[in-house]
Amino acid sequence: MDDLEIPSNGRNAVPPPYGTPMQLHVLKSFCNLPAGRPVQATMITVYTITMSPVMDVTVRTASGSEIRAALKVYDRRLGRDLRECLGKHVAHTPEVETAFQYFVKAKKMAPFLRELARRSKEDFTPPEPWHFLDDAGPDCQAEFEAALWAKCDGYFKTETEAYDRLCHLQGEYIPRMLAHVRVIVPVPNVPADLGKYFELKGVLLERISGYNLGDLPISPLAPSDPKKWPSIIQSSVNLAHKLDASGVLMGDCAPRNVIVDKRTHMPFFIDFAQAEFKEILLQAWHDPKDKGWNPEYEYWKTVATRNNPGAIGTEMKGKLKKIKNMELKGIVYPNYESILKEIQQPKKGQKLG
Ligand SMILES: Nc1ncnc2c1ncn2[C@@H]1O[C@H](COP(=O)(O)OP(=O)(O)OP(=O)(O)O)[C@@H](O)[C@H]1O
Ligand SMILES: [Mg+2]
Repeated sequence: MDDLEIPSNGRNAVPPPYGTPMQLHVLKSFCNLPAGRPVQATMITVYTITMSPVMDVTVRTASGSEIRAALKVYDRRLGRDLRECLGKHVAHTPEVETAFQYFVKAKKMAPFLRELARRSKEDFTPPEPWHFLDDAGPDCQAEFEAALWAKCDGYFKTETEAYDRLCHLQGEYIPRMLAHVRVIVPVPNVPADLGKYFELKGVLLERISGYNLGDLPISPLAPSDPKKWPSIIQSSVNLAHKLDASGVLMGDCAPRNVIVDKRTHMPFFIDFAQAEFKEILLQAWHDPKDKGWNPEYEYWKTVATRNNPGAIGTEMKGKLKKIKNMELKGIVYPNYESILKEIQQPKKGQKLG
């Protein structure tokens, strides 16, 4: 595997080493792609490789027609920010890969992942992949790769679970999930149960043709009349609240994770790899001894602290000021104080969210 040059801005990055055309094995299909079978994808461009490589691709369907999609691959070997250690990108090299393969073949993965899971649950500061490099032990490079593998595996699971939980919003507020896939790449000669550590999982998403919300003041696809911009920002703020109310708390809620459809100028949220789920948070927080436990209240308290709608509005306000010297006014945010009050004293017949 080659050492890749990752451009500093993450855009127009060099293609990942999957080959063109790429072969994808469809693990789960939500469209007319055949599940359990390989399909061919051709890359048109790479959007970004900040955490995961995300590409604009065409995929040939069983009937011979082609669909255009966004392919996001959870690949530990890439990712400018994913492989960062103390502000520097740590390149994936053949030596590092050899060390990782020895580690896997020596059956060190399972105990390492168990310990990582235990520490992630119990430690005050959960371990990050780069912490292992800092340890400088004999297996430190392999452990860095192993922790990155765990991170990418978690991102795939979280992203696919979020799309499942948000299936009612797909196609209108978030892209449609088309398929869960595996990019077919050479896997080293390891026993079958260890092959998973070299597999590359990914998702094929409906491709939203538009511009990132963060580019609103500069994109040629955005309305040229700045008076139209506040309503696009307001729709995005409202959508952030809608996601919170749907029980999916985005971990990385920012304008760059919002794509605005170039025709309708309606926002679509993307990137749920770091999301958290209400139900799972509540299970973890619940103390059966606490008789006054109000799960709804606890959830919305966290939503209010996180303030995802505010994260969208504040960043956009700063951008408009900086780029266009424009004051963003009149954006309406959720009133968390009254939401929390209502949870404690619900009015008759009134529903939240
Ligand atoms: N469904 C989609 N349609 C069109 N473009 C998309 C789609 N999904 C992702 N992209 C493009 O790819 C970029 C990266 O996607 P995403 O945020 O999911 O990946 P990421 O690795 O988590 O990136 P980051 O860490 O920068 O947020 C988006 O900003 C967008 O430009
Ligand atoms: Mg993103």
